[in-house]
Amino acid sequence: MSQSQETLSNLLQETRRFAPPADLAESANVKADAYAEAADRPGFWARQAERLSWSKPWDEVLDWSNPPFAKWFVGGELNVAYNCVDRHVEAGNGGKVAFHWEGEPGDARTLTYADLQREVSKAANALLELGVRKGDRVAIYLPMIPELPISMLACARIGATHSVVFGGFSADALRTRIDDAQAKIVITSDGGYRRGKASALKSTVDEAVADTPSIEHVLVVRRTGQEIAAHERDVWWHDIVERQSDEHAPEPVDAEHPLYILYTSGTTGKPKGILHTTGGYLTQTAYTHYAVFDLKPDTDVYWCSADIGWVTGHSYIVYGPLANGATSVMYEGTPDTPHQGRWWEIIAKYKVSLFYTAPTAIRTFMKWGDDIPAEHDLSSLRVIGSVGEPINPEAYVWYREHIGASRAPVVDTWWQTETGSIMISPLPGVTEGKPGAAMRPLPGIAADVVDDQGTPVPNGGGGFLVVKEPWPSMLRTIWGDDERYVKTYWSRFEGLYFAGDGAKKDDDGDIWLLGRVDDVMLVSGHNISTTEVESALVSHPKVAEAAVVGATDPLTGQAIVSFVIPRGSAGGDVEGDDFLKELRDHVAKTLGPIAKPRQIMIVPELPKTRSGKIMRRLLRDVAENRSIGDVSTLADSTVMDLISEKLPSAKSED
Ligand code: WT7
Repeated sequence: MSQSQETLSNLLQETRRFAPPADLAESANVKADAYAEAADRPGFWARQAERLSWSKPWDEVLDWSNPPFAKWFVGGELNVAYNCVDRHVEAGNGGKVAFHWEGEPGDARTLTYADLQREVSKAANALLELGVRKGDRVAIYLPMIPELPISMLACARIGATHSVVFGGFSADALRTRIDDAQAKIVITSDGGYRRGKASALKSTVDEAVADTPSIEHVLVVRRTGQEIAAHERDVWWHDIVERQSDEHAPEPVDAEHPLYILYTSGTTGKPKGILHTTGGYLTQTAYTHYAVFDLKPDTDVYWCSADIGWVTGHSYIVYGPLANGATSVMYEGTPDTPHQGRWWEIIAKYKVSLFYTAPTAIRTFMKWGDDIPAEHDLSSLRVIGSVGEPINPEAYVWYREHIGASRAPVVDTWWQTETGSIMISPLPGVTEGKPGAAMRPLPGIAADVVDDQGTPVPNGGGGFLVVKEPWPSMLRTIWGDDERYVKTYWSRFEGLYFAGDGAKKDDDGDIWLLGRVDDVMLVSGHNISTTEVESALVSHPKVAEAAVVGATDPLTGQAIVSFVIPRGSAGGDVEGDDFLKELRDHVAKTLGPIAKPRQIMIVPELPKTRSGKIMRRLLRDVAENRSIGDVSTLADSTVMDLISEKLPSAKSED
């Protein structure tokens, strides 16, 4: 196919199929007829909104008269904390566990829905005492401890808008976000536990707020007991929250009231404050959590391993699961503390049945070896999910086999901070899964793959992933910058939301995500997705992880350069020329000669953001022999040194 005909090459052929287990299909929350039932989209979402308790019913399901500014459930009123907590207590489920919390050092806390109601009410009363009012912004900079969801719900309870900033961010990043949102207080802790050590948070906040005039108080949770510097603006959580009344009447707010701002750092410019509102957001997080995980709230134990500092944690640790009255596990620390089986130990301990994690974690476990999960009883698992990046077919199959006992369906869920909830995903009781495919838009969602003119590509074609109709949990704007909202998401294709991702439709019309379009390589006139080449490399039995970039090449325009981490179990010489040739031939065999990497480098680690996404920009610097750019957003800034040390072993064209 010539360059002009093709938007994105469709190279990878994957024929494995996994049907849902019969019993799951039989008793599934959502069956195949849901797609047809959702043909009338507003009607479908109006029915889903009935999952929630509204203090005032809405007049109109959707107002799309001023696109791209949507209003869902116009005129309706509700309170998110009431929906996530109080109504479960009122229904007689106060004794039910909301969170089994597990601290990294091995301490644990159990919070029932009744406990949560008391704690959230006290925290709401404390915020009021500190002068926080409906509409004010509250910055939250906490580790994964119960006070984090409690703080978020306390804000929602009084109608304050929270802005959670991931605890791994620097003082600078925190300051920028506080300033942009003009937050009135910041909630933090002395520190938190990571990798077996107490690391400080309060000192970072002190540095950030030295220069943020909007901040009136710093509310500090004691977690580690480490020393902190005292300032006049500081208030200890145990001083002010503990003495509050444990009763507070949740304040109903408009369906479009701002629930939270969450910043995503784009590739350029200042971070974007993604704004999510109340009624539509809670409706879609609740529905998708129910549908995609097949949640049975009376018997399931659910665990999402993400950090609440990311949208995955907002939607699928806090709001979706609590709105559904689920019992969840929440874990403070890292997967390898004190040993590499910690997560599997937690699954066995709480008999987790629904599990949600990221491909980067899955590939790490592949690297550590199959024997580690095998030592633990994972038989309680019945649905296992993935989010954050395309999951390579091999990682999918490993996850299914070694974590899901070749029985639990894998749900590969595509969505973004901006979409608020899952958009494209298999339904575990319906979909015959294909490893590596997110499959179909969920009922009520209109997504498609289009070419550069905005025309849908035929089955078998590749292009740009777009959303064609508004959805309830969509971002409403970028905080304080409507123009940037329109420009960033709604200007590439007339009337369509463009997500920035490349995708293809296979012969059945099922959707495969191919990574960010910025990462697509142009090799001898072919647009090749980095994801497909990475997946081909990971399908070699000795490869655990791979990252691929396009480097300028005098002959082909761009050439494919790969970075590979061998599996723990690989054995033999994984540095030698023979192995590199074997890998290059393997890619050529899997995808065709056009995709054969010019160069493969064996590396010990890959540069990743704190949310686990590979930073290809830095690898392009390596591949093009440039000095390495800004590494400040790396989870571990020493990784680039490790890679640079390995450079002499880089092997070129044979
Ligand atoms: C980007 C959004 C959504 C919560 C975590 C990330 C990539 C996400 C998938 C998936 C392929 C995926 C996309 C998307 N992505 N899930 N299942 N398959 N790619 O949120 O940080 O806003 O990132 O993550 O590139 O645009 P985020």
